[in-house]
Amino acid sequence: MIAAMGYEHILVEIEPPIATVTLNRPKVLNALSPAVIGEVSAALSELEADGNVQAAVLTGGPKVFAAGADIQDMADQGAVDQLLRDQTGRWAPLAGFKKPLIAAVNGYALGGGCEVALMCDLIVAGDTARFGQPEVNLGIIPGAGGTQRWPRTAGKYVAMEVMLTGAPVTALRAYELGIVNKVVPWEMTIAVAKRIARDLAAKPPLAVRLAKEAVLKAFDAPLSDGLAAERKSFYFLFATEDQKEGMHAFLEKRKGVFKGR
Ligand code: CAA
Repeated sequence: MIAAMGYEHILVEIEPPIATVTLNRPKVLNALSPAVIGEVSAALSELEADGNVQAAVLTGGPKVFAAGADIQDMADQGAVDQLLRDQTGRWAPLAGFKKPLIAAVNGYALGGGCEVALMCDLIVAGDTARFGQPEVNLGIIPGAGGTQRWPRTAGKYVAMEVMLTGAPVTALRAYELGIVNKVVPWEMTIAVAKRIARDLAAKPPLAVRLAKEAVLKAFDAPLSDGLAAERKSFYFLFATEDQKEGMHAFLEKRKGVFKGR
């Protein structure tokens, strides 16, 4: 069953156990206005709470992912306007989404668009995808995590090249740099991302959630803290019904049926 919630700038499809959020401002290449950010954040908060959804795909559709923050909207803003609006901070429901979130990227993923893709857990890129941080050409720098997530994934020198030149990298180069999981023909991108989402949605939800949390911890905790957090989650999972089911299903040579309890 497909259900849709009413938003103006995005489309939300729920096909339990997955959901797909599609940015939908094609005339401006899905530029990320405050309204778009608000709608994506609201949709993800709803999907977070929806027990029928275990994984989500975020896409811009077949042609473009997102060409960044809305320059029309920002051009005449002052520093105080920006601070009070805290546009980049409003991505928190996306960055903090607890279920697996897969970016399906075709065409441009630039500026804030690239940063949003980097906030997702896996990235499936169509062969038309271009990832970049052109903010320097506008007299600003990335403000939604680009300067931090690129070096943590692709290393200092690649990050410097991307930030300082503003030139995008191709899907293939992004794959070689380890910032995308798969490159596929652009017509297949969303279908492949949905297939991965369905695979992840069939796994024990608590184990998936805590595995995601543990990997993200590696980005901002010293190794000893990360290892301690991992260990606690590992022990905790032995309190779940899904651990009993997963291990007994293995021993009984059958497929496990998981409840997220
Ligand atoms: N904001 C607002 N409008 C945008 C936009 C953006 N980020 N990107 C594209 N558009 C609009 C264009 O103004 C144009 O509108 P009109 O038809 O009304 O003129 C329409 O989308 C189509 O764009 P182009 O004609 O430019 O299309 P193109 O194929 O020739 O070029 C492009 C495509 C290379 C992506 C080019 O549009 C471009 O360079 N866009 C801006 C990319 C950018 O600088 N992004 C960073 C924004 S800042 C940011 O994101 C800050 C942050 O970190 C949070």
